Amino acid sequence: MTDHIPGERMARNEPLPPRAQPDLPHEPGAGHDLPVGTLLDASVLHEPVHAEATSAAEFILEARDVHKRYGQTEVLRGVTFGVHRGDVKAVLGPSGSGKSTLLRCLALLEPIEGGEIRLEGARIGSKEGRGGKPQGLPERQLARQRSDIGMVFQRFNLFPHLTALGNVMIGLTEVRRKSRGEARDIAEAMLGRVGLAERTGFYPSELSGGQQQRVAIARALVMNPKVMLFDEPTSALDPELVGEVLAVMEELAREGMTMVVVTHEVGFARQVADRVLMMDAGEIIEDATPEQFFDDPQQERTRKFLRAVL
Ligand SMILES: Nc1ncnc2c1ncn2[C@@H]1O[C@H](COP(=O)(O)OP(=O)(O)O)[C@@H](O)[C@H]1O
Ligand SMILES: [Mg+2]
Repeated sequence: MTDHIPGERMARNEPLPPRAQPDLPHEPGAGHDLPVGTLLDASVLHEPVHAEATSAAEFILEARDVHKRYGQTEVLRGVTFGVHRGDVKAVLGPSGSGKSTLLRCLALLEPIEGGEIRLEGARIGSKEGRGGKPQGLPERQLARQRSDIGMVFQRFNLFPHLTALGNVMIGLTEVRRKSRGEARDIAEAMLGRVGLAERTGFYPSELSGGQQQRVAIARALVMNPKVMLFDEPTSALDPELVGEVLAVMEELAREGMTMVVVTHEVGFARQVADRVLMMDAGEIIEDATPEQFFDDPQQERTRKFLRAVL
């Protein structure tokens, strides 16, 4: 017997044991992508939309003085910020500055060595240990906490042996313990909302990068997360496919999802983000409105970065 912990391998994107695949007809080339529909919809999720729940906490998601080290390298050197409900924070910064590490820590995929992470005011991922240092939580508890946080990775990370439908269903059956019938209903509806109603039976290898990334967003959304984290979701895409993924993210933002988006898409950051953060060498060095960030940044390192990317 393996000591299978629901959600743990899912969240880490490790392969899961093979299981019966959805028996939809396989029709390569069938259908076209449909327009994006409403994404936060209780009738799709079969339960109230968690992202819409009001909370007394000032921030939905908060990092307080988070430190993260890999060996001797301190990758996060005291990161503090908070995201209000419905806010979109864009995170920019040079390669290696710690952006992915920050998201992985927020998503509880990495332990932290200092500070704390809070979701709706409650500490998650660790508790106060000896000398005030964060102490890890049992894997089972982590898995439960992780499932409130949706994450979309740079490289889609779909299970290649599952169809689009299977990829979206698996968290519902494995983590949320929904019946296959209910999971299928929810997954089909959500794939429809991201414009993929006619591609549910396709395997990742049969989908474009943009379609795969929309499957990945649908997979995160069916879990009814309180917050969504995106790590450069369009940077692995051919340029002509970027727009279809940004369209889903813009719709999500419009509907009030709380989002942290690491991106190099300056247009998206300008138009959709409420705040733009600059990361450099493991620290947030600027946190400003898009106007101020792009037109009049306060830090010389931000100016230098913008000169290089704009
Ligand atoms: N698993 C790991 N083990 C060791 N070092 C890592 C690991 N992940 C990231 N790093 C290092 O941490 C730093 C920040 O990486 P990352 O968070 O991926 O930056 P970014 O996403 O901003 O490009 C880099 O120096 C990188 O080499
Ligand atoms: Mg990265």
